[in-house]
Amino acid sequence: MESVLLRARGVANSRDINTYLQAGGWEGFKKALSMPPEAVTQEVIDSELRGRGGAGFPTGRKWSFVPKDHPGPKYLICNADESEPGTFKDRELIEYDPQMVIEGIAIASYAIGAHTAYIYIRGEFYRWARILEEAIEQARAHGFLGKDILNSGYDLEIWVHRGAGAYICGEETALIESLEGKRGFPRLKPPFPAVVGVFGKPTVVNNVETLACLPHIMTRGAKWFASIGRPRNTGPKLFCVSGHVNRPGVFELPLGVTFREIIFEHAGGIRNGRKLKAFFPGGSSSPVLTADEVDVLADFDSCAAAGTMLGSGGIIVMDDTVDMVEVGRNLAHFYAHESCGQCTPCREGSDWCLDILTRLVQGYGHPSDPDQLLRICRFASQGMTICPLGDAFALPISSLVRKFRQEFEAAVARAKPIPPKKLPVMPWTGRDVRFGG
Ligand SMILES: Cc1cc2nc3c(=O)[nH]c(=O)nc-3n(C[C@H](O)[C@H](O)[C@H](O)COP(=O)(O)O)c2cc1C
Ligand code: SF4
Repeated sequence: MESVLLRARGVANSRDINTYLQAGGWEGFKKALSMPPEAVTQEVIDSELRGRGGAGFPTGRKWSFVPKDHPGPKYLICNADESEPGTFKDRELIEYDPQMVIEGIAIASYAIGAHTAYIYIRGEFYRWARILEEAIEQARAHGFLGKDILNSGYDLEIWVHRGAGAYICGEETALIESLEGKRGFPRLKPPFPAVVGVFGKPTVVNNVETLACLPHIMTRGAKWFASIGRPRNTGPKLFCVSGHVNRPGVFELPLGVTFREIIFEHAGGIRNGRKLKAFFPGGSSSPVLTADEVDVLADFDSCAAAGTMLGSGGIIVMDDTVDMVEVGRNLAHFYAHESCGQCTPCREGSDWCLDILTRLVQGYGHPSDPDQLLRICRFASQGMTICPLGDAFALPISSLVRKFRQEFEAAVARAKPIPPKKLPVMPWTGRDVRFGG
């Protein structure tokens, strides 16, 4: 497949607006300005573009939820928080082609009638925040931002807002709270941000990669975009491959290639001649797939049919040396730390999982532990939480227990004699499950 989103990678001075203009940059926005906003939205609906931030929601449909008769203001937010473990594609787009991202923001803002857009960028991404600020300045100097853009009567300003390092602020409503200067607590939905978003106004939140697709959809047409990939799973996609492969990195491929092709052809296969054991297909929040499932197609619907999700496209590869109980402990540690604490199933559940998995790893497991983990995860993923972080830890951990149960049983079988010092009691059972009491 020709390089679309990553076409600037390796090009000299790729960040310079003149390089971008020579490659046909900003033509998509010019075309959008010549159309009514609803026609731009329709073009995106026809392209069948689905959001690249994790949930795969159809982008044009999301825009169409913004009330047309709202007096405004309305806002567009570019989600550049990119905190999902195993995901490092958005920073690649910003590194090599920031004008493409800015142009995408301009197209989306015009379509929904926003005159102010924010880029919410992960706090640690200082370098990329600077790159974006420079790109915005260049775009403004060329008349693509500001007042009465290209004599169209349309005004737009874009502001970069740096986060403070919380994973949860990638979730769109926590992001909105954080942008408003508050603590990053996700909001109950409905109302959805498209109706009540930042400062109480209609707001669309889109991922960097989603927005980067828009200039291409506008210049080459919805049909062209929809011809890449598979029905309902269209367009180019950036896959981030990390872990035990020979060539980790970001690869641009059509949606619907197999994970086998991504891992063994593009990422060069498993390093040190070892065997593939398992992989997370869409960041650490996605249920794990085993080596036997490597022929699943890397697209939204195929992953869902295989009981997992494409998520952010962050493929974390594990070879046959990896201890899956330790993987579970590692995940639980991350999610217990990042839970915002508002909902009991997420706050307590992630901590309990961490507690159980830690002692399993340390050799104090109890025969009830594998089922106990499944019970906690079931409880945390029953839709009784404000945001999907409950599912984000529960689904991958329960998939590890289900698919690699023998390793959890083996950890229980290795249990050492109980140390004389009494360990803390698990308060929710009223008994000390560590000792089978
Ligand atoms: C815990 C959590 C973390 C998230 N982190 C990100 C993130 O870092 N970047 C992102 O684009 N979307 C993230 N999302 C998804 C956003 O809530 C939102 O769905 C997305 O930005 C919408 O963009 P899209 O429609 O273009 O996919 C996260 C969701 C959850 C539940
Ligand atoms: S699910 Fe977890 S992260 Fe999300 S709002 Fe509830 S406690 Fe916070």
